[in-house]
Amino acid sequence: MHRRQFLKKSCTLCLAIGGVAAVATLLDGCSNMLVIQSAVAERKIPVLKSQMTGHTIAIIRVKGYGADLALVQETAGMTAFVLQCTHAEYPLVFDGNRFICNQHGSNFTKHGEVINGPARFPLNRLKVEDAGDSYQILI
Ligand code: FES
Repeated sequence: MHRRQFLKKSCTLCLAIGGVAAVATLLDGCSNMLVIQSAVAERKIPVLKSQMTGHTIAIIRVKGYGADLALVQETAGMTAFVLQCTHAEYPLVFDGNRFICNQHGSNFTKHGEVINGPARFPLNRLKVEDAGDSYQILI
């Protein structure tokens, strides 16, 4: 085998192994997290209740909106949070138990309260209306 062929085959094999590992990591990291796509319509973001069946929290990915939202079942009903750090507005990730800002390390509970700073303020809440077969997040 020529050197050029060897390098080409080696690189292809490495990319294949790396790709499988990356996909596995992504799936492992989000295996319990429900992600729902939605869009803004008349200053409301609809989420069908049937999409939330069996889940008390979901990430809402809104087309044309600047940040993801979290839709969370609380004792008093559903609420939504903007998943943007209140320290310097970086996006947050959910680790299955809390929201984490990878920029400077702030952590928030799944109810939006600060666990660790430097953020000092809870996540911004959005009202959620019950519209029968759907929740309507008000923006
Ligand atoms: S932007 Fe999140 S901790 Fe600074």
